[in-house]
Amino acid sequence: IHEEEQVFVDYALQLVKKAGTLVRTAFDSAESKVETKLSNTDLVTETDQAVEKLLIAGLSERFKGHRFIGEESVAGGAKIEWTDAPTWIIDPIDGTTNFVHRIPMIAICVGLAIKKQLRAGIVFNPITNELYMAQVGKGAFKNGFPIHASKNQLLTKAVLCQSLGLHNRVQFGDRWLDIAQGNMRNQVLAGVRGHRSFGSAAINMVMVAQGSCDGYVEYGIHAWDVAAPAVIVLEAGGVVTDPTGAPFDVMSRKVLCAGTPELGKDLSACLTHVDFEPEA
Ligand code: IPD
Repeated sequence: IHEEEQVFVDYALQLVKKAGTLVRTAFDSAESKVETKLSNTDLVTETDQAVEKLLIAGLSERFKGHRFIGEESVAGGAKIEWTDAPTWIIDPIDGTTNFVHRIPMIAICVGLAIKKQLRAGIVFNPITNELYMAQVGKGAFKNGFPIHASKNQLLTKAVLCQSLGLHNRVQFGDRWLDIAQGNMRNQVLAGVRGHRSFGSAAINMVMVAQGSCDGYVEYGIHAWDVAAPAVIVLEAGGVVTDPTGAPFDVMSRKVLCAGTPELGKDLSACLTHVDFEPEA
């Protein structure tokens, strides 16, 4: 099985690199179109769809019986089927707003689950050429070099990644703003060094994996935002849990990451928790 898994991951890597060229070309060539049509996300949609199509077509042709959970396919009406079959969880461009605004913090995310267990993750930023990857039991790497999460246990020495999560207003209304701001306020009162928000869940998470940031929490994310980077954080020695501290469920639409369990626990204690309908 492990040899077979290696074949899956090696092939996915080749496809992700190909997809990276596509994203990079769109990012470099579309300046006027994107800037003059900010409310029109056609270009993004086209690039997202083209990348997702390339990945799914390539993988499904090579590996019969594999399943796919892709952001654009789901947006197009596909049902999320979460089964024991090898399943690729794909976000063609994580950080769509960054892409539209030409902020070079975007990631192609490809995660692999087998028997509903996350086994491998690839997170590739084709603009900065940073390729992160990990497989269970094999460590986490950035451009081939091992990466490690921070060993910091103290909020008073922590830089945390966090976004305001504006999309959560759809479900919680403006009460969400009170919750999100309250969560950040509690972290500030606990003495954190600062907050960062990179506009892509995957990039926030690889920042934790490489030890640049100490923790990250987000409510309202989707499986495709976090499946691949979760493996990278864990293999870099970090922790990935539910924000309450309960075990992580990739379908629960929420996540907490930290370099150490101690920091994760203290971060969790700062939060007012909310729940979502699981996506599978
Ligand atoms: C989004 C980004 C963003 C996070 C949202 C995600 P997308 O993914 O990761 O940082 O706050 O929850 O949906 O839509 O750019 O793939």
